[in-house]
Amino acid sequence: MRTADKWTDYRLLDCTCSEKLEMWGDIPLIRPDPQIIWKTDKRSEFWDKAYGHYHRSDKGGGQWSFKRKIPESWIISYGELKFIIRPTGFKHTGLFPEQAVNWDHMRDAIRGAGREISVLNLFAYTGGATLACAGAGASVCHVDASKGMVQWARDNAAASGLADRPIRWIVDDCEKFVAREIRRGRRYDAIVMDPPSYGRGPNQEVWKLEDCIYDLVKLCMGVMSDRPLFFLLNSYTTGLSPSVMAYILNETVAEKFGGTVTADEIGLPVESGKAVLPCGSTAIWRGDA
Ligand SMILES: C[S@@+](CC[C@H](N)C(=O)[O-])C[C@H]1O[C@@H](n2cnc3c(N)ncnc32)[C@H](O)[C@@H]1O
Repeated sequence: MRTADKWTDYRLLDCTCSEKLEMWGDIPLIRPDPQIIWKTDKRSEFWDKAYGHYHRSDKGGGQWSFKRKIPESWIISYGELKFIIRPTGFKHTGLFPEQAVNWDHMRDAIRGAGREISVLNLFAYTGGATLACAGAGASVCHVDASKGMVQWARDNAAASGLADRPIRWIVDDCEKFVAREIRRGRRYDAIVMDPPSYGRGPNQEVWKLEDCIYDLVKLCMGVMSDRPLFFLLNSYTTGLSPSVMAYILNETVAEKFGGTVTADEIGLPVESGKAVLPCGSTAIWRGDA
């Protein structure tokens, strides 16, 4: 398990009974997480003091209730990177803090490469990976189907002082975009993708992880440069196992370029206990050069 244990502005205080208690800056929130099937005692005073609580509805979706008025949005930092946090109608806050362990990995790889690196970030959401790679000196192409998410990512880049970096902001379906980039002859030294289990492109193109992931990774071979640096594939808890993702990267990227594939769960340390909350898995291919 690789753990995102370098946060200061984010803390996972406790988790039990299908819910996690998190501190975002100085704002405590409670959110559901179906994998928290244990029913341990509540070990934080903030369970009773959380400002916001997202309740799932039986009819699907859910809604927030607030004990205290909170700002519409606020900023938390991870080193130099700044993220706008905003509780959304679908329980997200605009950030997956466990991804910090992947941001660190990519940043070290880019800095260690000692050459110009171009990164393609697919399903890029609010831009955590984009900011980490751009902050390390890479040029980044950020692709997401949602106009609102791309704007949120641009705002995060501006908040992080990275607005002037070479970042292309693209609203498009990932598969269609990669196919177009192949036709245009564009190439990237690194690819990162964090696809959802289920999603839709801007024109309602259906994305279903199990059906589409292999084909998309395979398609991406057509946009990789002659000297690729890394290919990072992430999936949530309900998604793919590390071994399944490692298999896919071995049969595609490693088959074509050599190099090595590693895969592991990623997680967040829980302050109240000894354990780590698993938050999904990441497979990483690293090139030899
Ligand atoms: C849950 S997020 C990924 C998390 C993100 N990479 C991170 O760690 O910050 C999934 C994103 O995929 C986008 N998406 C879903 N289907 C898509 C598609 N077919 N093409 C492009 N983006 C898509 C959604 O808009 C959403 O922003």
